[in-house]
Amino acid sequence: MTPSFAGGDDRPTEEQSRDTLFLMIGAGYETAVNLITSAVHALLTHRRFLALVHEGTLGWEDVIEETLRHEGPVMHLPLRYALEDIDLGEGVVVRRGEPILLAFGAAGRDPEVHLDRPDDFDPTRPAKDHLAFGHGPHFCLGAPLARLEAEVALSGFFGSYPDAVLAPEGPPPVRLRSAVVNGPAELWIVPAPVPA
Ligand code: HEM
Repeated sequence: MTPSFAGGDDRPTEEQSRDTLFLMIGAGYETAVNLITSAVHALLTHRRFLALVHEGTLGWEDVIEETLRHEGPVMHLPLRYALEDIDLGEGVVVRRGEPILLAFGAAGRDPEVHLDRPDDFDPTRPAKDHLAFGHGPHFCLGAPLARLEAEVALSGFFGSYPDAVLAPEGPPPVRLRSAVVNGPAELWIVPAPVPA
């Protein structure tokens, strides 16, 4: 039986401590990086919203929640297995034991939830519901930390480089080649437009 971390005299074994550390680094690093780079890319390509942030009429939390909705850093999460038959309606039944690939990223673009331009990045939209941090008992443990990291990074970067632009001579941003993690593979940025 796997010892429990919670309560009693149970203590994590060395292996559990190492695995937990690995989980925190794995789950907490690449995800947060992609939230930040996706938000930077979105603001540099939608400058009117960056202007609203600089004016103080739009908050970083709006930018962060809209980025989580529009470009969730965890696109898919493999794999879950159905413990029992799950009837999704309209003739679709996931049979007991079948694998399930959760598409967290797709939920933020659900046209039945976001009736108004679900595919557009618009941090001024009033409702930014998403499942970027998952749902239920495995809801992301690091969600408050991730939001804080993004706010510190974005306010620090755009505070220091308010006129930053995508480097005109840089390659167009390509997406990460991953079915799980979602974001730009790299961003080429210069601190200000280069004079013509
Ligand atoms: C924008 C950044 C992040 C995103 C999008 C994200 C996303 C997610 C998602 C979708 C899950 C649910 C996985 C599942 O259903 O099995 C999850 C779980 C988890 N996340 Fe995050 N995460 C982020 C940042 C972080 C950070 C900063 C930490 C910690 C330093 C962290 C630690 C964890 C842990 C430990 C779990 C597992 C929780 C459990 O299974 O009970 N995450 N995350």
